[in-house]
Amino acid sequence: MVLTGGGDCPGLNAVIRGIVKRASQEKDWEVIGCIESFNGVLREPTEIVELNEKNVHGLLVMGGTILGTTNKSGPFEWPVRQPDGSWTTVDRSDEMIRKLGYMGVDAVINIGGDGSQRISLGLAQKGLNIVGVPKTIDNDLSSTDYTFGFQTAVQICTEAIDKLVTTAASHNRVFIMEVMGREAGWIALHSAIAGGADVCLIPEIPYDINEIKKKIEQRYVKRHGFCIIVVAEGARPKGGTIVGTQTGEVGYQHIKLGGIGNQLAAELKSAGVEQDIRCTILGHLQRGGTPTAFDRILASVFGVRAMELVMEGKYGRMVAYHHPDIVDVSLEEAVRAQNLVDPNSLLVHTAKGLGIEFGD
Ligand code: F6P
Repeated sequence: MVLTGGGDCPGLNAVIRGIVKRASQEKDWEVIGCIESFNGVLREPTEIVELNEKNVHGLLVMGGTILGTTNKSGPFEWPVRQPDGSWTTVDRSDEMIRKLGYMGVDAVINIGGDGSQRISLGLAQKGLNIVGVPKTIDNDLSSTDYTFGFQTAVQICTEAIDKLVTTAASHNRVFIMEVMGREAGWIALHSAIAGGADVCLIPEIPYDINEIKKKIEQRYVKRHGFCIIVVAEGARPKGGTIVGTQTGEVGYQHIKLGGIGNQLAAELKSAGVEQDIRCTILGHLQRGGTPTAFDRILASVFGVRAMELVMEGKYGRMVAYHHPDIVDVSLEEAVRAQNLVDPNSLLVHTAKGLGIEFGD
């Protein structure tokens, strides 16, 4: 049984296709898909679909996930409304594992980010035959060099910078572009370099507003010039805090990050920046549309290899990319640490060598 969990990302469908195509080469395996992460098994009636070579046609290029997904709750924290109208959660993992047994499910492939792989680990520890496939546009899993979806997000952000440059230059404006990534600055860093931004603000390097102001001043000769600032949603000023809100959605465990772009615009104005400032928040556009060739390939490799792990009975593992190889790591290792940008890394050094200001 295959399922997709967490936020959607380009390449999920390509993984599903890879799994189904590889399985169809063997006589012994049939693949089913569970709708909306584990919800499809937990709901009554169950929401399960057959997956075969016919219904994965065309999936390689299709964004999103045909199985649907959710980044709320799950088998360990299933939301239940109490008599007073408030919500609580119950652990339905044992019941779910029993149900999978009745259904004759031999193995589960869980395609998802860190939250989903924590669920995989919990289920593996309870004896479920499960294999993980890492996904996220944020690229924040330390056990794999890259997750699919990341390159596509970077491409989308880079193209957005290309577009903002022409309007910024025409109006002599400062443009702030807020990108996703949660606590990791990968999308911001890569797209700032690829798009030739002037300033890149990432969570791993808290910024001093005066350094950014100085950079903006350098970018103008009298009144003429423009400045492109890429800011990661998790970025914050030195001594400041991350900007976000509790959504109030039942079972949503994250703080919804976002808002630093507009906060930065206000900080720059207060610091005395006189130029017009505009802020663009790319939001979920970064997760939409067709995957890049790189992400299609990585997703396909992950899909085929995940199915092979199942066929080999190698459970409790997650496929991972360790250049140039595709390996598998334990689920414990998979969720052990976040992959964050090292401020002393070659890429940050390169960006600084190109004159990109980090505000440190
Ligand atoms: O983890 C992927 C991601 O797109 C983050 O970059 C972002 O902060 C978050 O998901 C947005 O979540 P949601 O889809 O719940 O708004």
